[in-house]
Formats: sequence, structure tokens, C-alpha cells
Amino acid sequence: MNFARVLPFIAVLPLAAAVQAADPVVPVNLPEPKEGQYVHNAPTVDDLMADESIHPELKKVILKGRDMFMNTQQYRGEYVFNDMNCKSCHMGEGRKNWSGPIWPAATTLPDFRGKNGHVNSLEERIAGCFSFSMNGTPPAYGSDDMLAMLAYHQWLAKDAPVYEKNIAGRGFNSLGNKLPELSYEQGEKVYQDNCAICHGADGQGQKKDGQVVFPALWGDNSYNWGAGMTRIFTAASFIKNNMPLGKPGSLSDQEAWNVAYFVNSQERPQDPRYTGDVKETREKFLNFHKHTTYGTEVNGKLLGDHDNTGSKPFLKPDVLRPRTFD
Ligand code: HEC
Ligand code: HEC
Repeated sequence: MNFARVLPFIAVLPLAAAVQAADPVVPVNLPEPKEGQYVHNAPTVDDLMADESIHPELKKVILKGRDMFMNTQQYRGEYVFNDMNCKSCHMGEGRKNWSGPIWPAATTLPDFRGKNGHVNSLEERIAGCFSFSMNGTPPAYGSDDMLAMLAYHQWLAKDAPVYEKNIAGRGFNSLGNKLPELSYEQGEKVYQDNCAICHGADGQGQKKDGQVVFPALWGDNSYNWGAGMTRIFTAASFIKNNMPLGKPGSLSDQEAWNVAYFVNSQERPQDPRYTGDVKETREKFLNFHKHTTYGTEVNGKLLGDHDNTGSKPFLKPDVLRPRTFD
């Protein structure tokens, strides 16, 4: 796709048509489950409506959680301070393999999590994505809004075995975490040819009437430097299996790696765990940041070396605190 040729075309195309053309289709070439893995069939909304074993009041709560997940932007300025909805990354309502299906969190937690070094609850896992991916702050633990989110996650896990960890299609990381040789220039070319048409030449996404149509990939309206998607291997696999929207699987592995490197070498809001010094923060969370470009120089620029928290008026949500049982 030639970007320069396509842009004027898109400019005259009514955005609604562009959006319709962008409706997700069933992805091709997703990796097959491995032998012995648990394969889950998460229920659909139709299943929910037909399920007489679920109390009508619980149905309401599950649907509220689903609505929060699909249209998280309704909480902009409250829980969310960037252009993301939960479904922006967890596509297919959070049910889709290799797009981080969310239900495994309901069957595997509480568990120890390396990212914060303590045992996490499901609430806390959801809070993590609010704090990093949404550059925001979660609904209070125990609140009605948090209960609705929990209900949605747990219902999607219906009939899955508790504590089973060998799960087909969990997470995003089908390409593994060993980086090949990466090229920023090649990544930029892949971006302009395949992504800019929706996400914008400057990565800022597109809005119509103030509503986000295509989410930002970098800058103030994107995920922050502490988000799982900043790991190059996570973004590469997500992109390989889900993007370009409507044509997933069409990039080669190398193209997916290069474009993930290019996208994740652009500036974004500060990591909420920032100590005031980017190199120190990188060192302190090296287990995570060894997979990102944060605190490293790319094209002569030290990435993440700023106090910018995006449109969020604070750095770190209060809920992100250590938890010990000593
Ligand atoms: C910018 C992309 C992005 C957005 C937006 C996002 N997430 Fe995530 N989410 C991730 C990544 C990356 C992971 C980690 C997957 C992995 O371990 O490889 C993750 C993991 C999770 C998990 C754990 C799944 C498991 O296998 O245990 C849950 C639950 C979750 N997210 C819920 C949410 C919720 C709720 C929202 C909205 C408030 C949200 N996410 C928004 C990227 C995102
Ligand atoms: C046809 C339009 C379209 C194209 C082309 C496209 N995307 Fe997307 N992309 C989307 C939409 C829409 C979403 C959000 C999905 C949702 O909400 O269902 C998204 C989500 C994403 C996300 C996660 C959310 C975020 O904003 O960070 C990433 C990363 C991403 N795309 C990267 C890419 C890359 C890299 C390419 C090129 C290889 C690409 N996309 C091409 C429409 C597109």
C-alpha cells in the first residue's frame, strides 16, 4: 500500500465507510494450540442471554462490565486518560486467542506476578492495565464498577479449570521473546505502508466528532512506558496476529518485529513507576525494561527522559503499592 497515494483517497472517503471497511474479520494464520494445552471457548453475549442458570441481576452486572471493557472511553478523565478502550488491545471482546484473552486472569489469580513482585488478585491485575495501558487509575477495589469488571472477566472464564496454566493462545506472545536483528528504517517503512492509513502518519490515531476511531500508537494519547505493549516482543506478536486490522497475518515476522520496534521507539507518557531518573527506573525494573527501549538511546535521543504524564494529572495511581505478608 502506498501511503502517499492512499492518503488523499482516505481524506475524501467518509470516515464511516473507512470504519466499516475496518471492521475486524476472523484472523488468518493464528498459531495452533500445542499438544496438551487447554483450549477455552469463552461464552458469547447470546450464551449469556440464553443461560437461565445466571440470575438476571448478575447478567446486568456482567453486561455493565462488558460495556466498560468495550467502551472504556466513557470514563475518560476518571479511569482513563488516553485514547484506549480495553478492547483496543484485547480484541474480540477480550475473548480472542493471541490478542490477550482476559479470562485466564480469573482462573489463575491470585498468583505471584514478577512485574510487581507480589501476589496479585484479579482486581489488581485489572488495575494494572488501567494504570499502564490506559494511562489511568482503576475503579476503587470493592466498588460497583470494579465488581462489574470482575464479573465480566469471571463469566468469560465459565467452565475453565482453575489454576490450569497451560492455556492455548494466552497473552500475545506467539513470536517468543528472542529479538531478531531490528531495523528502525525498515519498521518506519512498514508503518507508513500498512498502518499510517488508520493510525495516522504521526501515530496519533484518528477521531471523529471527538470519538476515537483509530487509537494512537504513541504520544500522550497512547499507552505509557510501563505498559506491557511497550515490550517489543509483545507488540510484535500483537501486530503479527491482529494488524493491519482486517488483514492480520499479512506481515512477515520480520516486518512485525521491525514495525513494533519503530512504534515502541517513539515517546509516550512516563512509566508510573518513574523514580525521577529514567536510567535508574530502567535499572530498577530491568526485568521488564530489558524488553523495551525505555531509558536507551534511539537515533541519538534518550527515550523516556521527561516528566510528561500525558493528560493524566498524576504520575502513579495510589493503588500501585507493594503488598507483603511478612
Ligand atoms: C495497550 C494495550 C492494552 C490495553 C489498552 C489493555 N491491555 Fe490488558 N493487557 C495488555 C498486555 C500487553 C497484557 C499482558 C499479556 C502478556 O502477559 O503477554 C495484558 C494483560 C491483561 C490481563 C491478564 C490476562 C492473562 O492472561 O492473565 C487482563 C485481565 C487484562 N489485561 C485486562 C485489561 C483491562 C480490563 C483493560 C482495560 C481497563 C485492559 N486490559 C487494557 C495490553 C493492554
Ligand atoms: C484498517 C485500520 C487499521 C490498520 C491499517 C491498522 N490498524 Fe492497528 N488498530 C486499528 C483499530 C481500530 C484498533 C483498535 C481495535 C479495536 O478497538 O477493536 C487498532 C489497534 C492497534 C494497536 C493496539 C492499540 C494501540 O493503539 O496501541 C496497535 C499496537 C496497533 N493497532 C498497531 C498497528 C500497526 C503496527 C499497524 C500496521 C502494521 C496497524 N495497527 C494497522 C486499526 C488499524
